[in-house]
This record gives sequence, structure tokens and C-alpha cells, in this order.
Amino acid sequence: QTGVTTLDPGFVNTASCTSAITFIDGDKGILQYRGYPIEQLAEKATFIEVAYLLIYGELPTQTQLDDFYGKISRRMMLDERLRELYRSFPRGAHPMQVLAAGVTALGAFHRDHLDVHNPEHVEESSLRLLGSMPTLAAYAYKSSIGAPFLYPQTKLGYVENYLRLSFGTPMEEYEIDPDVVRAFETLFILHADHEQNASTSTVRLVGSADANIYASMSSGVAALSGPLHGGANQAVLEMLREISAEGLNIKDFVAQVKDKKSGVKLMGFGHRVYKNYDPRAKIIKGHADTLLRGSDKNNHLLDMALELEQTALSDDYFIERKLYPNVDFYTGLIYEAMGFPASHFTALFALGRLPGWIAQWREQHADPNRKIGRPRQIYVGEKERDYLPINER
Ligand code: SDX
Repeated sequence: QTGVTTLDPGFVNTASCTSAITFIDGDKGILQYRGYPIEQLAEKATFIEVAYLLIYGELPTQTQLDDFYGKISRRMMLDERLRELYRSFPRGAHPMQVLAAGVTALGAFHRDHLDVHNPEHVEESSLRLLGSMPTLAAYAYKSSIGAPFLYPQTKLGYVENYLRLSFGTPMEEYEIDPDVVRAFETLFILHADHEQNASTSTVRLVGSADANIYASMSSGVAALSGPLHGGANQAVLEMLREISAEGLNIKDFVAQVKDKKSGVKLMGFGHRVYKNYDPRAKIIKGHADTLLRGSDKNNHLLDMALELEQTALSDDYFIERKLYPNVDFYTGLIYEAMGFPASHFTALFALGRLPGWIAQWREQHADPNRKIGRPRQIYVGEKERDYLPINER
């Protein structure tokens, strides 16, 4: 990136690709999308604006934004048979399993634009994904509680549609809370891209084989579901609830984490790249404080999270290992306060990350010299040896 000092050879050797989309400085806690600091985008932009920026490289004019969202909103409605497919999933199915299946199924229902070498097909499927994935996620939630599905409405905004599909009912008009919409705009923006994390690298690797974009995105959903990755936001809330249910005090729990034999991790802490405070966590923590202080829910858990952070950040074990809160540490508290069950938190992460996955997939496909991904290994197995008949083994 212009302005970056020379890269050390070790870094260049491990880099899996070059990219112009997202810049992270893990030591300084810097995150930029196409050169714009995350702090400015989180506060001033809308999620659809940021999706446009990530995919096309520039912030849109009003005309470009209206045209972009108009196309997306007309692709929010699912094929009726896909809606019925969702009804056949068992209620206890994890939303990320259902979402991964739904995203792959989009490729089965929209077979007329799967050619990864055709720019019109790539554009159409990108818009279809941005329009339909929130509907798929909302239906995964509704299906898990046996509630009826609503239809999206083009007169509503992106986040408004998603919230109405998730919490609205056919019995009455869903009341949009502007504070909740703004909080979701910010949360989705903060999750929108994060260079070559596990799920984005998965999307690129699957895409490098010329698999269609729906299959590539579905693999990203699957990778993100892991508790060490996007699944951590659900694991943080379960961790806080467990501490509370067992009547553990924070110091005892931190002692458990520091005892390696316990195998207990402080979920929502640590990061492969950030060896400083995750800039996203800082912004989300501020929102958690604002949104939760006003409600009677989650105060106890928020107080616990704040005490956990304070205790860890004053403990050499965490300081020496450069373990700070990451993007997942506070998000679950907000999601739960807004009515989502913990099992649904990672689906929200996937909705935020979708434009980044699309932008990264398209960036890789735009490279005329790209090759299929083929990570290598260091072989540490047996040396060559001869076959033995079974009666001699
Ligand atoms: C995301 O890559 C991305 O950009 C991901 C993401 C994105 O936007 O896409 O930012 C989203 O996935 C955030 C991370 C969410 N996961 C969690 O919160 C799960 C808890 N965190 C850990 O599992 C861990 O920190 C990872 C997986 C996030 C990072 O793992 P690393 O880099 O392999 O950590 P490490 O092994 O280098 O850690 C060094 C030391 C080790 O101790 P020692 O062997 O040196 O004694 O720190 C310890 C680790 O055991 N450690 C932790 C810890 N994380 C690391 N100890 C307790 N609790 C933790 N959470």
C-alpha cells in the first residue's frame, strides 16, 4: 500500500495474496476499507454505502447508491420453493448450517448466471446475494421459532428490511426503532471486511477453483461458524452466562484461563493480527454501553464483561501475550439486547461480512494471471517402506 514502509521478507513469504481492499496494522490497531478509517465509516456511512465502497472501490454518489440499493432490494424476495425448503429444517438446526444451505441453494435456484467468467453474471449474483442473504438469515431465525415468514418491502432500507423480516409478524405493522437501525448499520460496517481471515481466505480458495460465487460464499459461512472465528460472539455470551450460573467470581475465572490445563479460553479475546486493542471492539464497546445502560437487560452481563476486560488487561498473562478484546467480545451483548438468541449471533456476523467476501472474490477473479489456490505442506510422515502381506504384520 502506498505509504507503507518496506515489508519484511518473512511477511511477504507468508502473504497469500495482494489486495487493495482492506488495510490492517495489527500493532497500531488500524483498520481501513479502501483507505477510509473504520472509525469514520462506522460513524458516518450506511452499510450499503460501505458495501458499494468495498465492491467497486469508491464511495457512491447519491444516484449510484440509489441505483445499487434499488437492484439489491428487488432481489430480497426468495423463490417460493426455497422458502418451503427452509420450512423443512428441524427447529433446533443451527442458523449457520441453515444459512450455508440456503446460500448454496441460491445457486440452484438462479442457475442462469453462474458463469464466473461473465461480468454480467458476477454482477447479477453479487446483487442477488446482497439482497437474498438477509432474507435467508431472517427466515432461519423465524423457522427456528416456528414463526411465519414475511415478505421483504422495497420501500424499507436494508437494515430495516432485515429487522422487520426477523421480528415483524403478519398481525401488526413492525415499528422501526432508528437507534436500533443505526446500531446495526455500525455493527454491519465493522464486520464488513477484514483482509485474509479464515473465512475470507476460504472464499478465495474455493473461488480460485472457478466454483460459482454462491458455493464460495456458502463455504465462507461454514468457516465463519467456527467458535475460534465468527462463532466466538456466541461463545462469549455462553461464557458470561456460565460464569454467572456457576457463581464464579471474575478473578477465579481468569485464574482458570491462565491454568493451561483447564483448556478454558477467554472467548472474545486475542487475535491473529491485532496485538493491540481491536479498533472495532473499541467502537462496539461504546455502543454496548449506550444501548444497554438504558435497558434493564444485560447490565449484569455487561458489568461482568467490563470487569473481565479490566482484570485481563491488568494481568501479565494477557499483557505478555498481547491479548486484547476482539470484535466478538461485546457484540453478543448488543445482539441479545435487540432480541436475537445467541445461536443467531454468527449469522449476523455473516451478513456484515458478505460485502467483503464478495469484494475479495471479485478482486481475485479480476486478476487475469490468477491461479487455483494450492497451499503446500511440510511432510513429517514415514520414510518410504515396502508393503507387508497381512499375515506378516
Ligand atoms: C475473529 O482473522 C481475523 O481477522 C478474524 C476476525 C475477522 O474479522 O474475520 O477478526 C474475527 O475471528 C476474531 C477472533 C474470535 N475468536 C475468539 O475470540 C476465540 C478466542 N481467541 C483465541 O482462540 C485466539 O486468540 C485466536 C484464535 C483468536 C487467535 O489464536 P492464535 O493467534 O493462534 O493465538 P496464539 O496461539 O498466537 O496465542 C498466543 C498465546 C498462547 O499461549 P502460550 O502458548 O503462548 O502460552 O496466547 C494464548 C495462547 O494459548 N491465547 C489465549 C487466548 N488466545 C490466545 N489464552 C486464553 N484465551 C484466549 N482467548
